[in-house]
Amino acid sequence: MNLRRFLAWAAAEGCLGRIEQPVDPHLEMARLIHAKQEQPVLFTDPQRPGWQVVAGVCSRREHFAWALGASVAGIVPSLIEAMRQPSPPAHSAEAPCQEVVDRAPNLDRLPILKHLPGDGGPYITAAVAIIRDPDFGRNASFHRLMQIGPHSFTARLVEGRGTDTAWRKAAAAGRDLDIAICLGVPIHVLLAAAMSPAKGVDELAIANALAATPVVRCLTLDLEVPAECEAVLEGRITAQLVNEGPFIDLTETWDIVRPQPVILVGCLTHRREPIYHALLPGGLEHKLLMGLPREPTLFRAVAEVADCRTVNITPGGMNWLHAVVQIVKHEPEDGRRAIEAAFRGHGSLKHVVVVDDDVDLFDPAAVEWAVATRFQADQDLMVLPDQPSSSLDPSAKVVPGQKTRSAKMGLDATIPWTDPTGRLRTEAERHGFHKVSYEAAPDA
Ligand SMILES: Cc1cc2nc3c(=O)[nH]c(=O)nc-3n(C[C@H](O)[C@H](O)[C@H](O)COP(=O)(O)O)c2cc1C
Repeated sequence: MNLRRFLAWAAAEGCLGRIEQPVDPHLEMARLIHAKQEQPVLFTDPQRPGWQVVAGVCSRREHFAWALGASVAGIVPSLIEAMRQPSPPAHSAEAPCQEVVDRAPNLDRLPILKHLPGDGGPYITAAVAIIRDPDFGRNASFHRLMQIGPHSFTARLVEGRGTDTAWRKAAAAGRDLDIAICLGVPIHVLLAAAMSPAKGVDELAIANALAATPVVRCLTLDLEVPAECEAVLEGRITAQLVNEGPFIDLTETWDIVRPQPVILVGCLTHRREPIYHALLPGGLEHKLLMGLPREPTLFRAVAEVADCRTVNITPGGMNWLHAVVQIVKHEPEDGRRAIEAAFRGHGSLKHVVVVDDDVDLFDPAAVEWAVATRFQADQDLMVLPDQPSSSLDPSAKVVPGQKTRSAKMGLDATIPWTDPTGRLRTEAERHGFHKVSYEAAPDA
């Protein structure tokens, strides 16, 4: 679903804010987006025709549901299906993202936000970067880009991920790596780019399985990009390093400053009156885009060992470290099995709660109620010490050059099938753990 269709939908739903007076991308715009709790908002400055800015595109699960033509509960099954059957995108005869061509672009003319006074510079935060690895083919992923000059960025390339490994191969061969930086990207492409499928699986083929994603060839690079992006910066990642940061990470805390490669931009193509997608680092959009694409792998892992109904990687754990898993229990040990599988399904997961299917896993109070009424720490708690874990957890054990490690914890908050003496409870006794509800009032 491209950005323009999203805006039309949000306007029809009555949830699109519009700001028509001038707002400065330098510090002011991010403050406003934050104050509006990342509700969809379109900035159109009549005195500065050219670029418009949109924020809040991915801030609610409902937006993804709409973009995929699914219910909120149907998002994960749609993603699972697309991962199971990726379909290579078709070449497009039309290239909206190339309506205007600028072969001498100046990045200062783009509305790139500086978010906080302490940031290392203005940052592009919602770009999908497309590169080609000589061994694994096309890779699409997110990289924050700090503008360091009118034609240059430095990018955060997490070590060992697709872009990083391809760039290292190119650098070792004495070459730069071509990169297409897509801006104002269709929502289903954003979701696919945030996935980490097996090496060699093309994220644009996953996107195309979610919704048609025609591609066009870049003008100066041998790379293809989704034709319905708002803009594309064509460039190359060089072997030169400069300091990247400071910048806020998913944790809403400052990430460290590190030497990262310089990217030089040679060409800009865009739609007429392009729309720039601004995304707050550490905000709702960042969190949902990180966590939601991990839910299919988490679901699949649990479904291998238990009757899994739904999973939720929850906002309180930055949509990354915490999850709730809902199962239908068929055997007394299903809860424990689900915990072990959840840690396999999402390697960064730190804490997981398993609940029965009468508990709404999107309601934190309902999950807490299940822990309060169905869980005994000496029976139902699983603690796994010293596990490989997420580098984003500030309390984890960091040893330079090695994988971060932390303890992991699983709470089996499903109805206990055995009582404290070890006797199997009868079905009637298990039924006693359910909430009793009032009948509906006649005129309510
Ligand atoms: C909003 C957002 C920002 C991200 N920023 C970065 C980043 O700056 N650097 C990075 O390496 N990964 C970043 N990621 C994570 C990667 O895009 C993601 O893990 C991707 O799936 C990696 O895929 P790959 O292993 O195929 O390269 C970000 C993800 C999201 C959703």
